[in-house]
Amino acid sequence: MNDTYLGEVQAKRIAQNVMNLPTLPTVVAKMMQVMDDPRTTVSELSRLISSDQVLSAKLLKLANSAYFGLPRKVKTLDFAIILLGFDNLKTLSLGLSVIDRFSDNWDGAFDYTEFWEHAFGCAVASSMVARDICRDKKSEAFIAGLLHDIGKLILSQYAKRYFSVVIKNVTEYNSDFYSAEKALLGVTHADIAAWFADKWNFPVQLIKAILYHHSPAALLDENELASCVHLGDYLVRRCGVGFTAGRNLPEFDSFVFKDKNVLRDENGEIALLLYEEQLQLELEQADTFLNIIARGVEHAVD
Ligand SMILES: [Fe+2]
Ligand SMILES: [Fe+2]
Repeated sequence: MNDTYLGEVQAKRIAQNVMNLPTLPTVVAKMMQVMDDPRTTVSELSRLISSDQVLSAKLLKLANSAYFGLPRKVKTLDFAIILLGFDNLKTLSLGLSVIDRFSDNWDGAFDYTEFWEHAFGCAVASSMVARDICRDKKSEAFIAGLLHDIGKLILSQYAKRYFSVVIKNVTEYNSDFYSAEKALLGVTHADIAAWFADKWNFPVQLIKAILYHHSPAALLDENELASCVHLGDYLVRRCGVGFTAGRNLPEFDSFVFKDKNVLRDENGEIALLLYEEQLQLELEQADTFLNIIARGVEHAVD
């Protein structure tokens, strides 16, 4: 197999594979619908979620995790819904469904737990950045960070041949994954993830953040969320957390942060070292997601 552009036909084939993936679980699809209706009450939503026992148990467990820092133990779904709010609930349920969808019969080309370690690290880092530049979008930033590289997972599981071509190029030419994909496949893991997210009816904001996590400037003025993931991903790579398909750091666009309220050092540059220190501390505290992923469903709900 040589390292030439694989062409449009292959890109279409990958897209087709994504379209053939199963759809969003019914309960979560219904949740997305009812949460968009302002007349929906907490008890209606709670009744709907309780029809899926595993999802209910996981949501309760997450609501009680250190990450949300809620002052007392949440014992009922109604209470969890009120405390977390519809936005958090929406993004958490989507995140959990995607993780579930890909946790069965994993036979991709890399270590599943390490992949989610990177994803989880990026989720924490992206919401940490959101705290500085768009505080009201912290929960969206968390989920966008968690799912930003889902395209790599899809590529590796459903288009294995193309995935290995990219990996070979990354290893041989010491390139970065995103540029190698662009050159060889004509589509990237960001495109693939966005197709999937669109098929699963993710909120548009989330789809855009995932699609542009390597190129937030392309979003012009509405690039806050994508910028959070862009910096979050860069930070977590600098800290060396989890699997990322290649050793090289992704390209980083610091210009997109010029008007944003990020932490800066004495030279006015983004305070990357300070952010890295913060991230390490946050990662030590917020490990519930990773436990759920690594320990499997039975343990996660006990
Ligand atoms: Fe990426
Ligand atoms: Fe990444």
